[in-house]
Amino acid sequence: MQIVRTVAELRERLAGLRADGGQVALVPTMGALHAGHLALVTEAKARAAHVVVSIFVNPTQFAPHEDFDAYPRREAADARLLEAAGVAVLWAPTVAEMYPQGFATNISVSGVSEGLDGAARPGHFDGVATVVAKLFAQVRPDFALFGEKDYQQLAVIRRMAADLDTGIEIVGVPTQRDDDGLALSSRNAYLSDEERLAARALPRALGEAAAALTAGADVAETLAAGRRRLAEAGFDPIDYFALCDAAALAPLDRFDRPARLLVAARIGRTRLIDNLEVSVA
Ligand code: PAF
Repeated sequence: MQIVRTVAELRERLAGLRADGGQVALVPTMGALHAGHLALVTEAKARAAHVVVSIFVNPTQFAPHEDFDAYPRREAADARLLEAAGVAVLWAPTVAEMYPQGFATNISVSGVSEGLDGAARPGHFDGVATVVAKLFAQVRPDFALFGEKDYQQLAVIRRMAADLDTGIEIVGVPTQRDDDGLALSSRNAYLSDEERLAARALPRALGEAAAALTAGADVAETLAAGRRRLAEAGFDPIDYFALCDAAALAPLDRFDRPARLLVAARIGRTRLIDNLEVSVA
């Protein structure tokens, strides 16, 4: 596996891979890799001859008060995992390479990026859409893979990739969970042992709400019960616990179409997000 840090080197390496034939899959990440990221790599390898993984902690998707500085950075350990997983190229640019002096472009996806995390973290999805559009232009992959754990991000990227005629197939990969149900996330590393135990309430509240909705329970009452469950476990604030249209992510007050439950809440100083499909009985 080659680690590349400049766009020029990346282009050269990709030209070599393409000359060998076969398709290219891109797995964009911010590093601190866990089994969730490795599931993306496995899925990428099943689809394409060459897998490129990017590691870039993107400053423009963090608000000034958020955890950009504290975000875990473990490139050497990440590189070992990716090498063992059979990745061809690790694309790890610096901030100056990604955003050179004078950089002035912003990609903003309206509609799907406006509620939920878009409302709780203003500007976040502009940062994500802009950096992912750059990664797409740099790598020009045939496929790009993203975890369903960041469900709204996946919806924003699908919209952006289609709107900009990228021709890239966007693949969503199901959330990987620990034995206790907690969704794998690089931010789980912030949790104390006590918070880690309390955090189990998040997937449980989603599971209970999904089961209740499938059984025909009232949407407003189900969401209120979910919020109560999280508050009792110590989550504060609960940014949202919502039922949304599975594609457009518009909030639903009746479960009458394919839907997703989405939650974001803080335990101690750690903000966790999760989501679950709600199936029809
Ligand atoms: O999900 C992430 O890790 C990031 O938001 C992404 C897609 C790599 C963009 O910085």
